[in-house]
Amino acid sequence: MIELQNVHKVYAGKEKSVAALTGINLKVEQGDIFGVIGFSGAGKSTLIRTINFLERPSSGHVIVDNKELGSLTSKQLREARKRIGMIFQNFNLLDSKTVFKNVAIPLILNGTDKNQIAQRVHELLTFVGLEDKADSYPSELSGGQKQRVGIARALATNPSVLLCDEATSALDPQTTASILQLLERINRQYNITILIITHEMHVIKNICNRVAVMENGEIIEQGNVLDVFGNPQAMTTKNFVSTVIHDEVPPIIWTVSATHRGIAAFSNSNLLGIALKSHYYSILPKNLMCKSIYYLLPPQRCKARRSTTSLLNCAEQSHRLNKPIIL
Ligand SMILES: Nc1ncnc2c1ncn2[C@@H]1O[C@H](COP(=O)(O)OP(=O)(O)OP(=O)(O)O)[C@@H](O)[C@H]1O
Ligand SMILES: [Mg+2]
Repeated sequence: MIELQNVHKVYAGKEKSVAALTGINLKVEQGDIFGVIGFSGAGKSTLIRTINFLERPSSGHVIVDNKELGSLTSKQLREARKRIGMIFQNFNLLDSKTVFKNVAIPLILNGTDKNQIAQRVHELLTFVGLEDKADSYPSELSGGQKQRVGIARALATNPSVLLCDEATSALDPQTTASILQLLERINRQYNITILIITHEMHVIKNICNRVAVMENGEIIEQGNVLDVFGNPQAMTTKNFVSTVIHDEVPPIIWTVSATHRGIAAFSNSNLLGIALKSHYYSILPKNLMCKSIYYLLPPQRCKARRSTTSLLNCAEQSHRLNKPIIL
């Protein structure tokens, strides 16, 4: 669906040049909700902008829907871009145009017939829950509503891919959750592949099935969300994982596991897992556990003292009693 092969991007400056991407290899499959996470300056926006050729790579190949974008003429590239929608952190709406006009822009540029435009815009605004806002101006909308307009506009030309660059970073947690739900619905209902760039771990946790972690223009880890966050290798990945689970893990778990005295099994409404000597790799939010706890607990990690089965029994017991069990 989307493939990046050894993509490099160097921004040439007057005094020095910046290598924003260095040898990116990435494969996003049809139907994925693929997250790319990394700290500021990691190269995430540059990466997403190479996927619609807003940014031309300095070298390497970008393939979307079986087309190698670098080999297309400008006319072919314009056509290919219609199949790639994009939404932005700051929404990028035209303040002087109504919601209707903002959503209609790609269709007007396409030369679509007026009646068809009216019908499609109505359909899109209904889909994003803004059917009563067609005549409002962006300044009259909340942040979440503005992003819904951005989403409706991105869907206007029936894209097969939706690129989201920090689409929820300017929104409060509740609004973020509702926008993420909308993206999930777009993915399910229209089978649109979604690539999400974010520096917020909960975005990945909530809707992505696959993830890549970026640092200094490189992808340092990628794979299934469960695999990557169930057993993070790189320090940066571990840091991101800890941002979503640390607060939720009962303090006693950290105390016990930090003293190296043993292993603690615990469960609460969101989490189920085993903590082993301060390592948090085996603690995961429950909504990430689509398989089983065995997944979280590869036997080689528990060679000390307890068998996997006894740890599992403890985790289950902890779940029943609703309190951690110290081993
Ligand atoms: N147009 C540009 N010209 C020169 N350097 C640039 C340009 N755009 C980005 N860079 C540099 O490339 C690097 C990667 O930037 P990029 O915007 O891709 O990071 P990011 O991961 O999206 O960061 P953030 O989370 O802050 O949005 C940074 O060092 C940045 O300064
Ligand atoms: Mg960015």
